[in-house]
Amino acid sequence: MDKKVFVSAGGSGIGRCIAEAFLKNGDQVFVCDINAESLAQFKQDFPQLHTYSCDLAQPDAIQDMFQQVVHTFGHLDVLVNNTGISGPTVAAEDLNLEDWNAVLNLNLNSTFLMTKLAIPYLKQSIGGSIINLSSIAGRLGYPYRLAYSTSKWGIVGFTKTLSMELGIDNIRVNAILPGAVDGERVQHVLQARADLANISLEQATQNALNNQSLKYFVDPKHIADLCVFLTSESGRSISGQILPIDGDKQYLN
Ligand SMILES: NC(=O)c1ccc[n+]([C@@H]2O[C@H](COP(=O)([O-])OP(=O)(O)OC[C@H]3O[C@@H](n4cnc5c(N)ncnc54)[C@H](O)[C@@H]3O)[C@@H](O)[C@H]2O)c1
Repeated sequence: MDKKVFVSAGGSGIGRCIAEAFLKNGDQVFVCDINAESLAQFKQDFPQLHTYSCDLAQPDAIQDMFQQVVHTFGHLDVLVNNTGISGPTVAAEDLNLEDWNAVLNLNLNSTFLMTKLAIPYLKQSIGGSIINLSSIAGRLGYPYRLAYSTSKWGIVGFTKTLSMELGIDNIRVNAILPGAVDGERVQHVLQARADLANISLEQATQNALNNQSLKYFVDPKHIADLCVFLTSESGRSISGQILPIDGDKQYLN
């Protein structure tokens, strides 16, 4: 049976990949994003997609958007909390409160609010599912990314606790912790590291791969496949799990 799936910040990147996987699975998908252009492009490629442009840093915007989700779907089977910004790469003593708050607000507060609004509609599903995007930075420490790492460890506690609260309603809650994912974001991180250390991009890439078992970055499609699996009949006994998908990375630097 097709599912009603919501993906936050799904206009591009990993979120779009996840949304595409559900669309290709025959599910009904609603995505929101701050970038109206990327949403329009996505809808052009998949006309059946439901889109909504909003800034998830604004609680009122989330409330308005969620009314549209409910109006479109009635109930919800799958909530993918994909939203997440990294914030600045600086030493803790140089991190200002404004940047700290911006990261925690988007990564944690918006995820909380989305989930709070979604729970009554997930309860109407025969088997609801919540997937939260954490990060390897939610499993390991991440120097110079204090706010990001703190928020992603927060997502782990959020996931474990919600799983315990919602199991009685047959709602599963899991977290996916990607490592370095092939794409624009990682290229920017690597280029910044190369610039800082005065080395080439190739050397920075090699350094990043040295500390993981598999010598390639994560394909975002593999994260999307994991989402589809977790929400399928085959994944119906999996809840409260913290699932790294990172080529077995040993540390972050
Ligand atoms: N890319 C990686 O290597 C990586 C690794 C680990 C975890 N993650 C996590 O996976 C998730 C997706 O990562 P990504 O790399 O695809 O992200 P991204 O930086 O590519 O951004 C994804 C989308 O978020 C949207 N967005 C940004 N601010 C927004 C706002 N205020 N309101 C609404 N939408 C907004 C952007 O427009 C974009 O379409 C995040 O939670 C991230 O922390 C990513």
